[in-house]
Amino acid sequence: MRTQVAIIGSGPAGLLLGQLLDCYGIDNVILERKDREYILGRIRAGVLEQGTVGLLEEAGVAERLHRDGLVHDGVELCFGGSRYRIDMKAATGGKTMVVYGQTEVTRDLMDARLKVGRETIYDAGDVSLHDFGTDQPKVRYVKDGKTREVACDFIAGCDGFRGVSRLSVPTEAIRMFERIYPFGWLGILSDTPPVSPELIYTNHERGFALCSMRSATRSRYYVQCTNDDHVDNWSDDRFWDELRRRLDPKAAAGIVIGPSIEKSIAQLRSFVAEPMRFGRLFLAGDAAHIVPPTGAKGLNLAASDVRYLSHALREFYNERSHAGIDGYSSKALARVWKAERFSWWMTSMLHRFPDTDEFSARIQLAELNYLVSSQAATAAMSEQYVGLPY
Ligand code: APR
Ligand code: PHB
Repeated sequence: MRTQVAIIGSGPAGLLLGQLLDCYGIDNVILERKDREYILGRIRAGVLEQGTVGLLEEAGVAERLHRDGLVHDGVELCFGGSRYRIDMKAATGGKTMVVYGQTEVTRDLMDARLKVGRETIYDAGDVSLHDFGTDQPKVRYVKDGKTREVACDFIAGCDGFRGVSRLSVPTEAIRMFERIYPFGWLGILSDTPPVSPELIYTNHERGFALCSMRSATRSRYYVQCTNDDHVDNWSDDRFWDELRRRLDPKAAAGIVIGPSIEKSIAQLRSFVAEPMRFGRLFLAGDAAHIVPPTGAKGLNLAASDVRYLSHALREFYNERSHAGIDGYSSKALARVWKAERFSWWMTSMLHRFPDTDEFSARIQLAELNYLVSSQAATAAMSEQYVGLPY
């Protein structure tokens, strides 16, 4: 088989890239090691920056998002037993976010791909990348017991943190930066109305908590847990009790509890690989970087990589110019590092670390107090939360 761009991975990064390339008339094939149902079973964050929404519009997949997504103008911060609202729309001259689950974004992109008839090869085993140092790269995979090959002009490694693309690069050609946090997030999904119309990020001496949502009738809540914790240790009752203890009295009293329909623990990690281009291989999304979920930047960063990469490839095919592909890595990384810093900062300000002593707890509270009382600090947080310009 031959195509112009072979995309590894059918997560949001690979799917969005495939859809944009299709819009630009660039042929592409997606190779995915799992199947559609498996991918749609993963629950992830759900806050879209305005720029991400714009990109989904450009890709022609924003109809359901505009119908079912919830437009949010701000978030709430809860600390010291009180809640404070950050009006991000006011602080950014009118920018907003849309709360819409990543699983739904993925579903919309998969449906759109089916409609335009571009190929996705699911259950592609043993994917391997070859000759991306030349102008005739190839990808091999095993399907139904047979080894097959895709010849292409470019390979896009959109295969997430544990994918094969980054691992295919010679170790001397890549540098990695990483921080693993000494805690995780225990999350539950429940078909109960959200406690508040906006997200609540909480700093509490028992640990971080977050109240989020998927719709007017479906809530998503998180509490900070230890890295060695297990979901089996958390009955629904224990979860609701712990969440309530970390919230202000009004929110604690207002929580509507119900059975969880999903419960999972996520580890928190910051990670960046540099560069993001190796000859004719490009990394995009989680394959190149991970942020802790505090700030909800993961999907949005994947989208900004894909924006830069799709434009670079369009420039290559339409204008025969290498400028876009040559500049991709440094352009993407500049934005990635700013979001890495923002996510690390929010994580540091809101969580209890094993070495958080009374001094550092007071410093966190001072920072939060400053944040909600200074226009400059509110503006700085807001412009990053709603998404820095591309
Ligand atoms: N071969 C083929 N496909 C692979 C391989 C492989 N060796 N390894 C991984 N994949 C697939 C995975 O099965 C997955 O479907 O690549 C896809 C990667 O998707 P994601 O992990 O969702 O990564 P990405 O598309 O970059 O999405 C970024 O996901 O984790 C969140 O916070 C993150 O929201 C952000 C978004
Ligand atoms: C979520 O809704 O899952 C969510 C929202 C905001 C975050 C992280 C996760 O910062």
